Amino acid sequence: MTLVTSLKQLLTGQSSRAGGATAKAWPGLVETYRSWLPVDDNTPVVSLLEGNTPLLRSPTLEKRIGRGVRVFLKVDGLNPTGSFKDRGMTMAISKAKQSGATAVICASTGNTSAAAAAYARRGGLRTFAVIPDGYVAKGKLAQALLYGAEVLAIQGNFDQALALTQDLAQRYPVTLVNSINPYRLQGQKTAAFEVADALGDAPDWLCIPMGNAGNISAYWMGFQEYRSAGLIKTLPVMWGFQASGSAPLVLGHAVANPTTVATAIRIGNPANREKALAVRKESRGRFASVEDGEILAAYRMLAGEEGVFCEPASAASVAGMLKHASKIPAEAQVVCILTGNGLKDPTTALDCDHANFHRNLAPEVDAVAQVMGL
Ligand code: F0G
Repeated sequence: MTLVTSLKQLLTGQSSRAGGATAKAWPGLVETYRSWLPVDDNTPVVSLLEGNTPLLRSPTLEKRIGRGVRVFLKVDGLNPTGSFKDRGMTMAISKAKQSGATAVICASTGNTSAAAAAYARRGGLRTFAVIPDGYVAKGKLAQALLYGAEVLAIQGNFDQALALTQDLAQRYPVTLVNSINPYRLQGQKTAAFEVADALGDAPDWLCIPMGNAGNISAYWMGFQEYRSAGLIKTLPVMWGFQASGSAPLVLGHAVANPTTVATAIRIGNPANREKALAVRKESRGRFASVEDGEILAAYRMLAGEEGVFCEPASAASVAGMLKHASKIPAEAQVVCILTGNGLKDPTTALDCDHANFHRNLAPEVDAVAQVMGL
């Protein structure tokens, strides 16, 4: 057993006995990383056993980039509600419950509302979700409704929804669980711990989509904490990507009417702007934009060539990495964060051009075999 694996086991409580027969079940991220999180014995932990998502090597991307670069995908769409938001929500809801809250509220492009609803309802709290009407992917809306959120769809965009939500949280007894709630980023930083645990150090580059810019801030916090504790030696260069029609952090100013096919990151005025700018500076990172066409090309490539179905916003990390591939040092390790599951947005998947979708076939062997080219 190497030092890294034993360290990992110490941190995760996992045993490595052959066959996994004696391996301990994953207890969720609060229990796994308890000493790194602001919880105490009285915190009523609300968990759906989130975290512990795969860090998957990507042979297709490695082949495209060449020069010995190793590429990993952090498949965070495999969390319980299908996005990385579960990491933040287990913390935010547990702390809301501990403080005596009976209702939570969030503004959302979809994933936050799904995660908030699932965790809050499990914890017995009422959930309000303010969303931009018509701009939330079907799967996410279905989740929020079925998990029992009270969904308030406004004739406005996410930025307006967030401003309204902050106002409501100030005036009424409802706890805000957007990423300006500090417990959200505390939970989300565990993704950086998992990446470091799996690699034995930080990656050289970390590529991540940015919307409200909470997640990039959370990753950076996680890597910094691990380095301060001596668990990793290096810190990654942080590359944040936005869709070109919704790129306030790239442009350096708010965007009044953000547009993009990647509705999850259709945000013109990120709440965590200052934090994100600090991450870029401290990590000597870069922010860049990717066109919707580039996002969709990466989205299709990940599914069609790698077997990984993420949502369009998530593919922005891979699209951005490919766009800037020539800048990756030879032999470097790159991690791309895939923030949400492709099943969240069936509409975009079906709207793609599908040359392999053969319809109206007669139910006859000869007819079907002909279309199969046999
Ligand atoms: N990827 C996905 C799939 C998201 O849902 C989001 C944000 C991001 C990336 C960007 O993360 O905001 O921390 O920079 N979704 C929020 C929501 C805004 O309401 O679900 P960020």
